[in-house]
Amino acid sequence: MPVNAVESELELYYRMNHSFSDGRILNSMYTAPHPIGVRAHMRFIEANMGNPGLYPGTAEMEKSVVSMLKSLVSAGDDVTGRLTDGGTESNITAMWIARNLTGKKGVVFPKSAHFSLKKAANILGMEGREVPLDENYLMDLGSLEKAVDDSVALVIGVAGTTELGLVDPIKEIAKIIDRRTYLHVDAAFGGFVLPFMRELGYSVPDYDFSLNAVSSMTLDPHKMGLSTLPCGSHLHRMGSEENISTEAPYLTKTKQAGLLGTRASGSVASAYAVIKHLGREGYRNIVKQCLENTDYLVKRVGEIGVRPVVEPYMNIVSFAFENLDAVREEMERFGWALSVSRNPPGLRIVVMPHVTEEMIDDFVTDLKNVLAVLGEAV
Ligand SMILES: Cc1ncc(COP(=O)(O)O)c(C=O)c1O
Repeated sequence: MPVNAVESELELYYRMNHSFSDGRILNSMYTAPHPIGVRAHMRFIEANMGNPGLYPGTAEMEKSVVSMLKSLVSAGDDVTGRLTDGGTESNITAMWIARNLTGKKGVVFPKSAHFSLKKAANILGMEGREVPLDENYLMDLGSLEKAVDDSVALVIGVAGTTELGLVDPIKEIAKIIDRRTYLHVDAAFGGFVLPFMRELGYSVPDYDFSLNAVSSMTLDPHKMGLSTLPCGSHLHRMGSEENISTEAPYLTKTKQAGLLGTRASGSVASAYAVIKHLGREGYRNIVKQCLENTDYLVKRVGEIGVRPVVEPYMNIVSFAFENLDAVREEMERFGWALSVSRNPPGLRIVVMPHVTEEMIDDFVTDLKNVLAVLGEAV
């Protein structure tokens, strides 16, 4: 087919997609990547960190990004890490290292944990133990105590839960496990929010490597880091990665660590460019705006009598409705991309950098109409 005919087809497919510029996406933990990141990604589009000997420049950028990420989570010289394809791969990696180092199969995580942990347990032949939540929707410490025994390789807490954006009591979790197991913190989302909330004067509980007991963390540049995807990271102090390395005879390096072979690596350059360009001040301003917009959303939705299921802590909020699925369905007819939290049930909104006050006003207007049509008591 001639180029322009193919491109016309592509355009049709493109229009079938949602786009952040439509002003309708309220359920995504990813946002429009920063333009400098897009340019960097395109410049390094050929790079494949599965074969780093060919791409020493990209390999150096990866090291540099890892060291910038380490500075976000109070990591010292004993912490090492790598960029990954995202939170799922990072969580798999944490569990993989812990399983191989301890020879144990148990992994304990809260009911609020991202489903990637169950997926990882399945892949790795580990036994996932889900700990119930307390009345504040955080990992219940009494139940954690009962779940940890000699067969457990690691406990996982979440700093920025997927459904509600809450932070598990990592310090208290560390006390309970008392170094009997590794402790992994999934900060896939919160990793680019919490450090800046702290700088903005919010009270943020300890959740990172400043706690000696934290052995490993997930932190994703492709979520609130505004990098292009795929870009996650796994940082850890669990020894060398020898135990997750495989002989790779035909490549430029003889061993390959980690899960993936070929890795889309334009995003390494993207993360490098965005982090360098925005710096702490840039991210702080973005987080500030997202938190202000979250407050605005809660206020505007409150004006029509709808309350959050729990006071939002960061830029994720879930709203309670009697007829939740019907509200979501009707709102989707207006083009809104929404998701629900299941625990507790609510209409879940992630107030990412592309979500503006104007979008929120449009959303509230449509929501008011939908509630009137459904006769939902407010
Ligand atoms: C807390 C948490 N961990 C892990 C993941 C998985 O990340 P990814 O989709 O980048 O693999 C998510 C995704 O939303 C998440 O919210």
